[in-house]
Order: sequence, then C-alpha cells, then structure tokens
Amino acid sequence: MNAVIQHDEAGLVLDRLGRPLRDLRVSVIETCNFRCPYCMPEETHPDVPLLGSDRRLDFAQIEAAVRGFVALGVSKLRLTGGEPLLRRDLPQLVRRLAAIEGIEDLALTTNGSLLARQAQALRDAGLRRLTVSLDTLDPQRFRAMTGGRGDLDEVLAGIAAAERAGFTALKINCVVLRGVNDGDVFDLAAHFRGSRHVLRFIEYMDVGTCNGWRREGVVPSAQLRDALAARWPLRALDANYRGEVARRYAYVDGQGEIGFISSVSAPFCGDCHRARLSADGKLYTCLFAGSGHDLKPWLGDASALNQHLRALWGARSDRYSELRGAARGGRHIEMYVIGG
Ligand code: GTP
Ligand code: 5AD
Ligand code: SF4
Ligand code: SF4
Repeated sequence: MNAVIQHDEAGLVLDRLGRPLRDLRVSVIETCNFRCPYCMPEETHPDVPLLGSDRRLDFAQIEAAVRGFVALGVSKLRLTGGEPLLRRDLPQLVRRLAAIEGIEDLALTTNGSLLARQAQALRDAGLRRLTVSLDTLDPQRFRAMTGGRGDLDEVLAGIAAAERAGFTALKINCVVLRGVNDGDVFDLAAHFRGSRHVLRFIEYMDVGTCNGWRREGVVPSAQLRDALAARWPLRALDANYRGEVARRYAYVDGQGEIGFISSVSAPFCGDCHRARLSADGKLYTCLFAGSGHDLKPWLGDASALNQHLRALWGARSDRYSELRGAARGGRHIEMYVIGG
C-alpha cells in the first residue's frame, strides 16, 4: 500500500488521483425479486444468490461503517441492493443512519415493486430522496426486462405512494438497450414531463460478468438527447454538485428536467468521489472492481477503522470507465452486489 497519502486543505484524505471521498453507497442486501437480463439474468441466476445472514452486516455494523466513512468526508449516503426493500426492518436502519451527524443527503435506489407498502415508513424514518428504476411503460416489455418477474402496475403504484408520502421529486432511472427499449424513451419522457420527477437515461454498461454486454447494445446519450430535443427542445443545466454522474437538461417549455448518464461514451472517473460497501461488509473503490476489502474486522474499533479506510482510499487509483477496453478481463463484481 502507498505510504505517502495525500490530503486536501481540510486534512481529508485524497486518493492517488487527488479525488476526495464524498459519496458512499451501501448495499443492504445482495438479492433481488427481479431478474433484469442486464444485471442478474434468469439463466445464470435462477435462484436467489443469498449470503448467509451471519455474513451480512447487521444494522449496528452498517452504522459503524457509515460513521467511519463520515470521518473521512462522506456526506452523501445512498442505500442500494440488490433490492433494498427486501431487507427486513429497513426503516429502522434508515432511522439510525439519518441521525448520524454529517450525513447531509440520505437516498435510496429501488426497483419500486415493494414501494407502495413501504414508502411512508421510509419517509417517516428520515429518508429524503428516492430513485426508482423503470425501463419502459409497456407492461409486456416491462415483464420481459425484469426476467418475467416484474409487474409494471406495482411499480407505478409504488411511485404514486411515494408521492403521497412526500417524495415529490423522485429520480427515475432507465437503462437503455438498443433494440429492446430504445423505442420506449419518448413514452417515458412524455409520462414524466410536467411531473416534478427527473427521468435519467443510463447507458448500458459492461458491469459484472454475466450480462453478455456488447457495445452494439449501447445507445450513446448524445444520440438519445438529440432525438428527444428534436421533439422537446432542451437546454443544458449546470451540475447540482461536483462529480454528479448525470448531465442535466431542462425542457425549454418549462416542463421540468431530464438527465443522461453516459459512463460508456463520456466517462466521469476524474470526479469520482464514490465508495461502495457490499452487504457483507466489503469496500469496493470502483463499480468495476475485481475484489473488495473486507471491513468487518475493523468495525468494532473506530480508530482502527479510520486508519484502515484512510490507507485504502489513499491507495485508490481506479478509473475503469476511462480505460475500459484496456482494463477489461479478469474478475468483476456484479452490479447487484454493489447496487450500481
Ligand atoms: P444523485 O445524483 O445523488 O441523485 O444520485 P446518482 O445519480 O449518483 O445515483 P444513482 O444510483 O441514481 O446512479 C445512477 C446510475 O449511474 C447508477 O445506477 C449507475 O448505473 C451509474 N453510476 C453511478 N455512479 C457511477 C460510477 O461511479 N461509475 C459508473 N461507471 N457509473 C455510475
Ligand atoms: N448498465 C447500466 N445500468 C445498470 N443498472 C443495472 N445494471 C446496469 C448495467 N449493466 C442500473 C439499474 C438501476 C441501477 C441500480 O443500476 O437499472 O437503475
Ligand atoms: Fe434487481 Fe435492480 Fe438488478 Fe434489476 S437491475 S435485477 S431490479 S438489482
Ligand atoms: Fe468511479 Fe470506477 Fe465509475 Fe470511474 S468507473 S466513475 S472510478 S466507479
């Protein structure tokens, strides 16, 4: 490990490329009730890949880990999965994490299928932002794109319940696959225009090893943006914060905002301030990492955890999306293990 660790003016650790740590994504569960072919294909994952519950971090351990990351500069926290709403008593965890001083933004990414039942409890526990994945508004295609398991009406009911619970500006993530749902983007845009929700189109990425990624399946964001702008003129907006992954646009006619996440055509590693923690307590310093660093042994000792995290972040040099082809090969962690 690198002996010389860089720091910023505030004394916070920087990685080897000078990037601070601002944003933590915690996967609370490694399984999902969907089988989206680009993430957890039914053919390779007919059964639920489950960790024994003894290997999964409990809520006290997750809280200890988050506190450790906050000490290094994290202020944005996002809970992910697999599907995070499958984790039992999730609102209790949200309540504990919302109470941590230094967490300024607490969000969660879900497939929406269980949201109708849980939106209010999550809101009451202190969750402030929600992102729902939704790739099409066509019921048949939705079912196919969730591996035969998803019901579009349940997700739409989940979005409606979230609105009633006070989540007035959701983010809606749509992964675009050429020849699969690229024809559905206009319907999605029309549906969410004029709501306060922000639809974001994500380029299909070569995450993990099981989704059979091919570059031909990617629809470059610029192409999509130009097609949408021809129908509804768009105006570029500034990022909400440094390192935001989505490029933001406003509809010129005042009907809200739309975004594009272009990890394949326009990588954003230079500003990547994100760390990811898997449900079994491993730190991944990149979405495309081959392996993680087990934090479990350090979670009972805040000072040892602090030293360890500083060393790990200080040694980080990941920039997979910028290297892509050159870095391909070998092991890659699966998307459902670290939640995107
Ligand atoms: P906010 O800006 O806080 O609302 O969230 P976000 O857009 O950072 O989070 P979200 O989980 O919605 O991210 C959207 C998608 O962008 C993820 O599911 C990934 O597909 C992609 N993404 C997010 N972070 C990274 C990253 O660090 N690297 C790459 N390559 N893709 C990322
Ligand atoms: N490429 C791009 N996005 C993906 N997601 C899952 N797998 C991929 C992939 N291969 C998205 C999900 C969800 C978020 C967690 O990541 O659709 O919105
Ligand atoms: Fe589940 Fe999300 Fe992966 Fe689909 S993309 S299988 S909803 S974790
Ligand atoms: Fe960050 Fe890795 Fe994504 Fe680059 S590829 S933006 S380093 S997570």
